[in-house]
Amino acid sequence: MLEVKKMNTFYGKSHILFDVSLFIKEGEVVGLLGRNGAGKTTTMKSIAGLLTPKSGEILFHDESLIGKKPYEIVRRGICYVPDERRIFGDLTVEDNLEIVYKRNNEWTKDRVYNLFPQLKEISQRKAGLLSGGERAMLAIGRALMSSPKLLLLDEPTEGLAPIIVKMLEEQILELKKTGISILLSEQNIISSLKIIDRAYVIDNGKICFEGTVSELAQNEGVKRDHFLI
Ligand SMILES: Nc1ncnc2c1ncn2[C@@H]1O[C@H](COP(=O)(O)OP(=O)(O)O)[C@@H](O)[C@H]1O
Ligand SMILES: [Mg+2]
Repeated sequence: MLEVKKMNTFYGKSHILFDVSLFIKEGEVVGLLGRNGAGKTTTMKSIAGLLTPKSGEILFHDESLIGKKPYEIVRRGICYVPDERRIFGDLTVEDNLEIVYKRNNEWTKDRVYNLFPQLKEISQRKAGLLSGGERAMLAIGRALMSSPKLLLLDEPTEGLAPIIVKMLEEQILELKKTGISILLSEQNIISSLKIIDRAYVIDNGKICFEGTVSELAQNEGVKRDHFLI
């Protein structure tokens, strides 16, 4: 469904992404793994239209996304969930879910509450008062309200306690069963192996490995060089 070909992205004069190519098939959960500063967020923002690549191609269902505005990309069914999990702190959990653009009615508030029962319990709480795990769930839940076909999840478990990470991973696996496609960025390779089908490893803005989870698990060199394990 998504194909990125030889994408080069800059911040001003700084060349950050070098010929990044990747693809995601319908229903796949694909990992974008790499250390802090490797280029994961830049890749996702480029796909979401928040940054414009200087060269290369991004095709979604064979349509080019280059030059399209972020909202046009959301309307086509791609939703980016940033690592800072921007939510509206002054609004309640429920209002945060209601406020988003709705692409179609595939996802409703109740369906989000079904996936994240914790959110239902605190639906009237101001989002600014939520814990890290609750914020992460709300950010994903809010993205789902736009009924995306492809979710770009930027380090969803970063900074969360291990027990919350485990819960969130199980919820992402539940989400996968709905047939949605996910590009998931992670620094923690071990944790990501449980949820992803395939992976790309990015380092210094270049894709340096691509393969299935078992190929990655067996590749001691990649694990040693990029993940300090
Ligand atoms: N707004 C920015 N301006 C200039 N350089 C940036 C900016 N954001 C990120 N970078 C640089 O781009 C590189 C990739 O960053 P990023 O994509 O955020 O990595 P990751 O998400 O893998 O941690 C890093 O070297 C980072 O310092
Ligand atoms: Mg990042």
